[in-house]
Amino acid sequence: MGIATLKSTALTMVAPGKGILAADESTKTIQKRFDKIGLQSTPDTNLAYRKMLFTTPGIEQFLSGVILYDETIRQLIDGIPIPEFLESKGIIPGIKVDKGAWQMVNLPGEKITEGLDGLRDRLIEYKELGAKFAKWRAVITIGDGIPTDTCIEANAEALARYAALCQEQDLVPIVEPEVLMDGTHDLEKCREVTSKTLKAVFDKLKAHKVVLEGMILKPNMVISGKDSSTQTTSGEIAEATVQTFLEVVPKEVPGIAFLSGGQTPDQATENLAAINKVSPPAGGWQLSFSYGRALQDEALQAWAGKEENVEAAQKAFLERAKKVSEARSASSA
Ligand code: 13P
Repeated sequence: MGIATLKSTALTMVAPGKGILAADESTKTIQKRFDKIGLQSTPDTNLAYRKMLFTTPGIEQFLSGVILYDETIRQLIDGIPIPEFLESKGIIPGIKVDKGAWQMVNLPGEKITEGLDGLRDRLIEYKELGAKFAKWRAVITIGDGIPTDTCIEANAEALARYAALCQEQDLVPIVEPEVLMDGTHDLEKCREVTSKTLKAVFDKLKAHKVVLEGMILKPNMVISGKDSSTQTTSGEIAEATVQTFLEVVPKEVPGIAFLSGGQTPDQATENLAAINKVSPPAGGWQLSFSYGRALQDEALQAWAGKEENVEAAQKAFLERAKKVSEARSASSA
């Protein structure tokens, strides 16, 4: 394992002013996104959409990396493999390697992320295809009597085994335990579950001897449920989020790159700015972003599946990326 390589890739992924675009929607998820613009997902339409995003002039000012999907990492832009195309712009290519979250047996409403079988071989291939980092997403649902300890433990164990396998191949693992925003729970409940989940994850990462300096944490913000009767301000979200991470995230972790998790682009931007304004700035980690929907929603709407809209869509994408980058650079000063 090349610890120096892992550390330097991780630091580049959370370089000041930049963040990671999550463009790794699975075949099922990209269809859900395309439904909003009435478009059928095919390898060709998926490529047309992602090409629009990746060829946006100037986007490299705001993006350190892009997370790709298995289909995309094998596709070409103007005859150039996509990982090589991104590298030529100074953007690091990464790859989603989990095989999705599936209903757990005997635990209604809870999911376990699959994909460990054969992972070592898949990582070797992705590395050959140009990936420098990987992503694995676990989902934790808040509801009546859930999450159970069993669900949290099983997902934490899988995340740690995935992370260890990535580092064996010099790939930086993005460790993503997402506590979902779905539900009526309040901020305090989200804080409690996020804290418990992160504690379990770091216990398992340590047990599997994952090098914390060579990973990136991709968590949810501490935020009330989408259907909660008590919605909170970005200041409250920021305080609760930073406080939680100070308690449970070891200072060796170089960066925290938040997911947007169903927040609107404006909410995800505002909350990230508030988090970065909270002083003192955490345990030394960079507080960055790895957004999917919050970076893409406006561009997708503007594009609407039409070649003639590419320029307008790229403008929307660049503008949002710039705003999120500024949010990530906000300070209390
Ligand atoms: P969202 O920002 O849309 O939540 O997506 C981030 C991601 O990569 C989920 O795994």
